[in-house]
Amino acid sequence: MLRAFRNACTHRGAQVADGCGETRRLTCPYHAWSFELNGDLAGQPQAYAFSDIEKSTLGLQPLPIADVAGLIAVGLSDDVDPVAAFADIEPQLRWCGYETHEIVCQHTWTLKANWKIAFDVNLESYHVDYLHRDTLSNLVLHNPIYDSFGKHARWGFPTTGTEKVVDLPEEHWPPTMPVSIIHTLFPSVVLLETPVSCQMFRVYPGRNVNECTVDLTEASLKPIANEEDREARQRGADFAALVVGTEDFPAAEQCQRGAEIGLTNFNFGSNEPMLQHWHRTWQHALDNA
Ligand code: FES
Ligand SMILES: [Fe+2]
Repeated sequence: MLRAFRNACTHRGAQVADGCGETRRLTCPYHAWSFELNGDLAGQPQAYAFSDIEKSTLGLQPLPIADVAGLIAVGLSDDVDPVAAFADIEPQLRWCGYETHEIVCQHTWTLKANWKIAFDVNLESYHVDYLHRDTLSNLVLHNPIYDSFGKHARWGFPTTGTEKVVDLPEEHWPPTMPVSIIHTLFPSVVLLETPVSCQMFRVYPGRNVNECTVDLTEASLKPIANEEDREARQRGADFAALVVGTEDFPAAEQCQRGAEIGLTNFNFGSNEPMLQHWHRTWQHALDNA
């Protein structure tokens, strides 16, 4: 059974869990209150000191949680319905098979850039021949397609080699083409599907407007069969981390600096429809917040 809780001890708010793993109980590091996995308070040192508080009211506070096409979605406040939040794009995610993906590794970056600017690096292929001239430019073609699904959006672009089918009669085309598909979920999640792997980028606002954190989770599309398989996926993950960490994210930090020294507008071209979609969507959400 899936459960999610606010990561705040009901004594005085310290975090009862950190990272990932398996456990039978969650124990707060501050005064050692412990909680069952259903959230109930299990134990309190010197419990007599709290005898005037009904114990059943001291369980961890639950949050809404749902399985959305194999992805675990958690609402960060009680009024969020995670199923409704992704309903517009959920049918498009079903074919991705997230329930069978196996996580290979994770990376985290803290950037000196607003979270929206960091997210923008995932939203167009216009930059690939220039910023990624030594890494990605030979791997992808630059004629992406774009669709929106409510607040969410998807774009996809063919990988190099796909153009060879152009001269073949359609009945000789292979059943699947090597393409990369990028689903972008409101407000700031990117799921990049390649023919062999899936990368999930989650971009979080930082403590200040010009800071953010980016988490990258690299997953194999199928359960990892052996060590050779794992090493291949790890190499892919290291390459992805190198490209975004040394090329995309420094570019995002430069854009942030441009805004900070007085640039008043960014200009999005007709070849950057995802940027247009996302900045409109965020603006609309902020206007209605
Ligand atoms: S804050 Fe958790 S036990 Fe005190
Ligand atoms: Fe890039």
